[in-house]
Amino acid sequence: MWRKEATMLSWLFMLATLTGVVLSSVTYDHTSIIINGQRRILISGSIHYPRSTPEMWPDLIQKAKDGGLDVIQTYVFWNGHEPSPGRYYFEERYDLVRFIKLVQQAGLYVHLRIGPYVCAEWNFGGFPVWLKYVPGISFRTNNEPFKAAMRGFTQKIVNMMKAERLFQSQGGPIILSQIENEYGPEEWEIGAPGKAYTAWAANMAVSLGTGVPWVMCKQDDAPDPIINACNGYYCDYFTPNKPYKPKMWTEAWTGWYTEFGGAIPQRPAEDMAFAVARFIQKGGSFVNYYMYHGGTNFGRTAGGPFIATSYDYDAPLDEYGMIRQPKWGHLKDLHRAIKLCEPALVSGDPAVASLGHYQESHVFTSRTGACAAFLANYDQQATATVTFRNRHYNLPPWSISILPDCTNVVFNTAKVGVQTTSPQMVPVSNLGSWASYDESVASYSDDPFTVVGLLEQINVTRDVSDYLWYMTDVNINGNEQFLKNGRYPVLTVMSAGHALHAFINGKLAGSVYGSLENPKLTLTTSVKLWAGSNRIALLSIAVGLPNVGNHFETWNAGVLGPVQLSGLNEGRRDLSWQKWSYKVGLKGEALSLHTLSGSSSVEWQGSYIVRSQPLTWYKSTFNAPPGSDPVALDMASMGKGQIWVNGQHVGRYWPAYTAKGNCGGCSYVGTFNENKCRTGCGGPSQRWYHVPRSWLRPSGNLLVIFEEWGGNPSGITVVRRTVGSACADVSEWHPSLWHIKSLGKPEMPEKPKVHISCTEGQKISSIKFASFGTPQGTCGSFQQGVCHSTYSYEAFKECIGQRWCSVVVSKETFRGDPCPGIMKRAAVEAICN
Ligand code: GAL
Repeated sequence: MWRKEATMLSWLFMLATLTGVVLSSVTYDHTSIIINGQRRILISGSIHYPRSTPEMWPDLIQKAKDGGLDVIQTYVFWNGHEPSPGRYYFEERYDLVRFIKLVQQAGLYVHLRIGPYVCAEWNFGGFPVWLKYVPGISFRTNNEPFKAAMRGFTQKIVNMMKAERLFQSQGGPIILSQIENEYGPEEWEIGAPGKAYTAWAANMAVSLGTGVPWVMCKQDDAPDPIINACNGYYCDYFTPNKPYKPKMWTEAWTGWYTEFGGAIPQRPAEDMAFAVARFIQKGGSFVNYYMYHGGTNFGRTAGGPFIATSYDYDAPLDEYGMIRQPKWGHLKDLHRAIKLCEPALVSGDPAVASLGHYQESHVFTSRTGACAAFLANYDQQATATVTFRNRHYNLPPWSISILPDCTNVVFNTAKVGVQTTSPQMVPVSNLGSWASYDESVASYSDDPFTVVGLLEQINVTRDVSDYLWYMTDVNINGNEQFLKNGRYPVLTVMSAGHALHAFINGKLAGSVYGSLENPKLTLTTSVKLWAGSNRIALLSIAVGLPNVGNHFETWNAGVLGPVQLSGLNEGRRDLSWQKWSYKVGLKGEALSLHTLSGSSSVEWQGSYIVRSQPLTWYKSTFNAPPGSDPVALDMASMGKGQIWVNGQHVGRYWPAYTAKGNCGGCSYVGTFNENKCRTGCGGPSQRWYHVPRSWLRPSGNLLVIFEEWGGNPSGITVVRRTVGSACADVSEWHPSLWHIKSLGKPEMPEKPKVHISCTEGQKISSIKFASFGTPQGTCGSFQQGVCHSTYSYEAFKECIGQRWCSVVVSKETFRGDPCPGIMKRAAVEAICN
């Protein structure tokens, strides 16, 4: 008997395991992705693992989960994983399996965009530079060597995921994969070979048997069973290429990237929420925020060229991993509202009705009686009052209200009910003294190689360094007129990019640089040549390899000429076809000056010698600021160069490249584009550089800087990033403050409350501003309006000394009504210390 039971139990166990395996499946239909038989509305966010440190990952993932995400999406970065052919790297920031397992532990799913072309403002779009030198290769087209390499890497990643049982079909978190990236426009340009390549890529991916669906984004002709998906600021207009595929948005851009020379892009939270609500109301079932955490292009990983080191992206989690308010909280409220609608949303297409000129309702109903409605006002000027099922609703301009029971509004995209925070960079003056080391202008003693003519830069450097020296000699006859009249000849250097410093007989004669829009440059400078032999040394600098564009692998960098001298007796002399000597990289790079051992292998000049001169290495030490606030370096006093801390490569810095662009006002209303809401015009495109906490010891951290132009290192400060102040602005009646019970019916609203909270380890030290009435302005610049309760500050007094507090917005709290009959708000700015 006992035996029989035991056998039955083991059979049951086996059956359960078997059915478990069988049930773990991801499929799809017109409505949505279906996980284990359940149709799901999925909210996803991009976090690219090498753009933060493994120590930051658990916190980022948790904050993503707290923000209401179901899925984390990441690209796979081939050039990080296979630095040379067949030599793989999956450690530290490139520990892909660890990243995915952390997401799994948090209970979230993964969308793995293998690419292996990723674009992503990442160096060379993710391709290893060696790939360009595979004989006969042509990227992203019907080319055998390329396809073989692409298959090899894709297979490598898929097999790795399978071995770790990470696909949902194996009980793992990966529910979707992606092959290629935005290939549609490329295919359109190149025609037949592009079409053949698409078919091949789709087939190759599907044949790998992951057990989960593949996605191709911006690929209208994605072959079955691959789902084609949309990328952009809005995707509500998008329809998949087959009626049995779900409507997916793989990149909902939360902001945009910063380029050196550009102003900092921002996207208002209200418009972001509006775009997502608009997508969902039109039957969308998968939204991925690109980026949810942008992070940092550490080292030389930034693409472009000219992509900045910061990849903050104005994402809901900022570059440092801190919650960006109100964006993070407003989207969290949106996700809660969408989830309340899920039972109705997954039951079919909405019924659409007009509610006015610019107003519409989208109503989802299920057979079981669930009903969810979205009421939209596309009017860019006016609030609309609409009637829906015999009730009146007020819709602010460019907004959508969400009614999970078709009656009660739980969220409106334009009404931000969460607090705003304004982070600050607080200087911590703990840098030690500076020492310097000359990176002297290259010379023939540096063992260069010499050829006739000018060489393309990447062909020479293979991108092991940003730097390539071009050297040549020019003989000047003693009878040259300019030696007598002082009208010096003009040197003209044409370069394919990206930046260039010209030295004549060891002295800097001029610097030029391109931009993201046009990396090419021309140096034109008069040069003080002497009679006899003159040395021209050109330091050509790459600022990230291109990551997008038709056959970007063939784009050139470096001095391709012509290089000419004009104003000589003979007129113009072309130097392009004389002998040129080449030296890859800097002396300091060869000496590994950025490391502890390398930096102690040379003599540095003492602190009193710190000079503002080009081509100089600087070193200092600093203590980590106490506490756990994120750390950065304020580089405002510097020109252009690179930073290392304890041997770790922070990245390129270039605060001297100030931001061009239009930094006019920013309204959330109206169609957004990346140029609409820029800030920081005229200032450095990037002033602060993130140094992850895990790279720091408590004291004696080695900071090494290579400065090209001649900045002043004594102006560099270590700063910590902290929530400087927390603001809230809440009206007496606010729909998004309605208490939402997850998956339950919305309840009647509680009295609206002002919630303010500082980050962990901080307290509210004072109330900078408080007004109950009709306050004006925004966080950091609030002002009293015509109506103001004299009890406003008193009401928030209890907050002082607390980490967080909440105060009910009602006339009782403020001891009376300062202006009866007028809708009032309470605005407050609390200082966190
Ligand atoms: C998309 C691309 C992403 C990223 C984005 C801009 O087109 O797929 O990888 O480059 O643009 O940030």
